[in-house]
Amino acid sequence: AGASPSEVMGDTGIEGEVGRAGWAEPGGQSARVAVSSPVGTDTVPFHGPRQAGVDTPAQAHAVFLAFDLLPDTDRLGIERMLRLLTDDAARLTQGRATIADTEPELAAAPARLTVTFGFGPELLARVAPDRAPAWLRPLPAFPQVDRLDPAFGDGDLLLQICGDDRMSVAHARRMLIKAARPFTAERWAQEGFRASRGAHPTGTTMRNLFGQVDGTANPAAQTPHLDRVVWGVGAEQVGITPWIQDGTSLVVRRIEMLLDTWDELDRPGKERVIGRTLGTGAPLTGEQEHDEPDFAALGPAGFPVIPDISHLRRARMDVPEYGMLRRGYNYDDPRGAIESGAGLIFAAYQADVDRQFVPVQERLAESDHLNLWTVPVGSAVFAIPPGCAEGGFVGDVLFA
Ligand code: HEM
Repeated sequence: AGASPSEVMGDTGIEGEVGRAGWAEPGGQSARVAVSSPVGTDTVPFHGPRQAGVDTPAQAHAVFLAFDLLPDTDRLGIERMLRLLTDDAARLTQGRATIADTEPELAAAPARLTVTFGFGPELLARVAPDRAPAWLRPLPAFPQVDRLDPAFGDGDLLLQICGDDRMSVAHARRMLIKAARPFTAERWAQEGFRASRGAHPTGTTMRNLFGQVDGTANPAAQTPHLDRVVWGVGAEQVGITPWIQDGTSLVVRRIEMLLDTWDELDRPGKERVIGRTLGTGAPLTGEQEHDEPDFAALGPAGFPVIPDISHLRRARMDVPEYGMLRRGYNYDDPRGAIESGAGLIFAAYQADVDRQFVPVQERLAESDHLNLWTVPVGSAVFAIPPGCAEGGFVGDVLFA
């Protein structure tokens, strides 16, 4: 026993970083696997005041898993479950096998794996009803646009599993479902993707399956703007106080995208629907992706260059202090009920759903040219509790 990582590296003959992860731990020599890829061994810290996977630069793959608590899973049962899930998530994200890992080799390359826990209304009701945020309930109905399928709605517990390698995401999914099984029933699962890591320079804004640059207006990483929008830091002057320090909310909307009819539009038509160019994502009044849109600019015929019903115009709030962090994933699922089966797992983080998300969704439901090609089929709201320290568990503050 006990070959050092560098010895094993020598065996593989692969140059590269031997990292922070790279070893599947228990199970003795046979379970040890050296991983030398800098993508595979990259880890995101699990422990800390805030959960990872929220403002972590989005990984290439995601699985969103929603569970229902079993009727007899009481407060104590929930605590036991959260302890087990936390322990598993802490290990897996750092490239270590879980205690009862049946395929420990699959844990060796986490590739920036993160596991983010979200709590639905029923979990809060069983654990700490007096600490449930007022906005933790299903969104109001938007009958103009919604075609909601309960198969993609709500849930008591959410695990958002993200990583740059589909294998480690699949392994984490299996291990976490096993741990949750005695306490829950699986409710829904949604799987999504972005461009592979390395396919584009780091920091490139993602594209959705309409080809649009999607995420331009998001608050930039590690800025006071993001702290305010997502974590509610210093947002009191616009009436937002986080429900709990270092916590936030997540809205998950599954939105079908009607690629077949979208293709009937020509390119300028597609660009007017959003108000941005397809090439660079620049506003129709600008040149570069991050240029400020000029909503007053008129075209030769006297109409606004960025149409009033464009998605950009409608989604932009008059109170810029609100905002949200959109961290969505594409899906391309031939089993989809509507036409192409492609769409977006729209996932938005904000400190206060009622103040920040609902008004935007109301405006979009009222009028947004994009509605002709998009159909929301799933909707769920979760409270994202703070992170935990080593030895603690996610949600422990609610049990204090
Ligand atoms: C902006 C696509 C649904 C809220 C954008 C942009 C695109 C886009 C291409 C412009 C670039 C950017 O800033 O990201 C889509 C697609 C959707 C969808 C394809 C459905 C499949 C939604 C929903 C909401 C939303 C459901 C919220 C209720 C926003 C916001 C912006 C935005 C807040 C930024 C507006 C600004 O510039 O201030 N979206 N979107 N989007 N979208 Fe969406």
